[in-house]
Amino acid sequence: MATKKSSPAAATPASKAAAAPAPQPKKRAASKAAKPAKPAKAARPAKATKATKAAKVVPAKRAASIAAETTDLPTKSGLPASATVAEDGALLLEDWTPMGQCLDWRAGLQTWAWQADQLFDEQKVPNLAHDSGAISRRNADVLAAWCAGQDAAGTLPDEIVLVELGMGTGLHLRFLLDRFQHLCAQAQRDWYDRLAVYATDVSRGVLENARDRKLFKDHEAPLHLGMMSAFEPGIFRPLVQAEPVDLRGKMHAVYANYVLDLMPMDLFRRRTTEAGSQWQAVLARTWLAQPERVPVYVDLDVDTLRAAIAAGDFRALIALFPLTEVELRTFPVDLSNHPDLATLERLADYIEAELGADHELLTEGTVACHSGGALHVAARIVAALTPDGFASVRDVGLTTAALAAVPRTYSHYGPTAASGVNMVEFDDWFAQGGNGDGSGGVDAVVRCVAPDTDGPRHQASRLLCRMALPEVEAAFQTHFDADSFAHVEGLVARARAEADAGAALELYRAAMAREPDNWVLMTEAAKRALAGGLDPQLALLLATRGVGLNPEYSPDLWVIYGDAAWATGDHKAARQAYAYALEVNPRDPVAHYGVAFVDAERGEFRSAFAHIGEALAHDVDGTHRPQVLRLLDVCLRGQQQLRAEETERLARRALR
Ligand SMILES: C[S@@+](CC[C@H](N)C(=O)[O-])C[C@H]1O[C@@H](n2cnc3c(N)ncnc32)[C@H](O)[C@@H]1O
Repeated sequence: MATKKSSPAAATPASKAAAAPAPQPKKRAASKAAKPAKPAKAARPAKATKATKAAKVVPAKRAASIAAETTDLPTKSGLPASATVAEDGALLLEDWTPMGQCLDWRAGLQTWAWQADQLFDEQKVPNLAHDSGAISRRNADVLAAWCAGQDAAGTLPDEIVLVELGMGTGLHLRFLLDRFQHLCAQAQRDWYDRLAVYATDVSRGVLENARDRKLFKDHEAPLHLGMMSAFEPGIFRPLVQAEPVDLRGKMHAVYANYVLDLMPMDLFRRRTTEAGSQWQAVLARTWLAQPERVPVYVDLDVDTLRAAIAAGDFRALIALFPLTEVELRTFPVDLSNHPDLATLERLADYIEAELGADHELLTEGTVACHSGGALHVAARIVAALTPDGFASVRDVGLTTAALAAVPRTYSHYGPTAASGVNMVEFDDWFAQGGNGDGSGGVDAVVRCVAPDTDGPRHQASRLLCRMALPEVEAAFQTHFDADSFAHVEGLVARARAEADAGAALELYRAAMAREPDNWVLMTEAAKRALAGGLDPQLALLLATRGVGLNPEYSPDLWVIYGDAAWATGDHKAARQAYAYALEVNPRDPVAHYGVAFVDAERGEFRSAFAHIGEALAHDVDGTHRPQVLRLLDVCLRGQQQLRAEETERLARRALR
């Protein structure tokens, strides 16, 4: 049979695994161009990809809502009383609303609660960098510095309460605990034994995954899985019992990675005239395009959808994400009652002073990207710490005045929405004690510690604490400075660019010497070792080590393991590995292809056809279609040949 002659990896010009779809932020505004023209009805203004000129003054009620809704997740909907239909047939779902609180954004936030587990399993969230172990190592080292300081001062608590907010896969926390346990053993200290760990998220799905996949099975520290919202830090709702536990004032260490960027934000612009400051805000309205296509996505009529939205239930809307569109516009607003006005004025002053009055970014006024939700949530986290506790936060950040002055919208990961946190504003906010007048929920003594240089690709970490913690702050600044990431990042960048595979593998080897537990590096290196059949044994070694560290969350890694096992002749192990990949993500087209391939080799066409069907169904962008169709052809011919042989045998039998 033809399939026996080529390996799964060799069956495609590019390795199957290398061609796995990379998570891409979906830019919604761009979808407008693809929209088919429709007969004219009511006029709908052209959708803008960024702030456009003001058409009218924002209604007073809406302007007030900007002030009122900055700090809390709004559940109110600006659903128009009667259906508004645009000339192209699109239905208005929500009228003008502050951009970072609009229906599309709020549905994005609710998506986490309903679908976070699926988003992680399908690798739709770019979480690899923060789940690789590299951030966990750093956080474990900082935690050890905190324990050492407390121990030396004789103030180490019997129980150290450690909380991760928005833990996602939970891998960051697991690797942190691994490393911390190792550090404690090395230092011969009992700090690890004192831990009470709270692994939290707003998604029941990710918590159940952690429980069912036994993510923390190697850890003896009391580990509590449960819900905690960033809007209510400290209120812990266990997964298995109803009674919430109040941890406010009891948390010693809190971690929030890539959570603050989900919080509501606003985009303002200040124009300074002789009459004083005039503010504008970007508002958004959310449309449902092609309402006649709703039944393709959900079994619901449009009226029921509108009723669900009005009731704050966005599940159907989330399913309809491919049909939703957001229109953005700039409106003059009256911010005189905005709770963070002083912060905004300071931010705009700072940007103007940094960039200079003639800067091209300032010709239309000064953009103030207000990460209001992130600021207030961070303040609440600090308020819920013990007086000697600390919080470690990490996010994509607008780390310079020039970055903070660019008008921007938010990005989508699947239906979820996120926006870089304005770190210029964040640092100033804590330095000034909130609005500089003690308001904003910020204790004037909150310390916001930044490394000298923020990390690459605008990744920014901050340590927040209420009293000076010199050793902890020093450890944090060392471990989270861009310098501490530069060496490994440099090696990896060179390895990726290196044409010579052997030289590339040497660079990966050097990077792994620095980060021996980084399974993401192992995945990349194994892929490279496998490409072109270079060194399947090495690929298998790397993949084996990788899946030892992360058997739960990387279908890609299992697929590479499968390809490497196949290439070294162990087809049974290869099939098992592809099957494991499907346990993580049942919709992984590459893993389905892998199973189909091995089954086709064995002549098990019925199963092969089933997996080929799945591979095609889930390969929505058609990335793997050519190789899957080739395999389909092989299977059809193989089946036909089998049938011909059977028929011949039957004929021979009849003649006997
Ligand atoms: C971008 S992911 C980051 C996950 C993980 N911390 C990481 O670094 O990979 C955001 C996580 O925050 C959770 N989340 C969403 N809204 C939240 C909220 N209001 N409070 C706490 N967590 C939230 C999501 O379910 C998701 O697991």
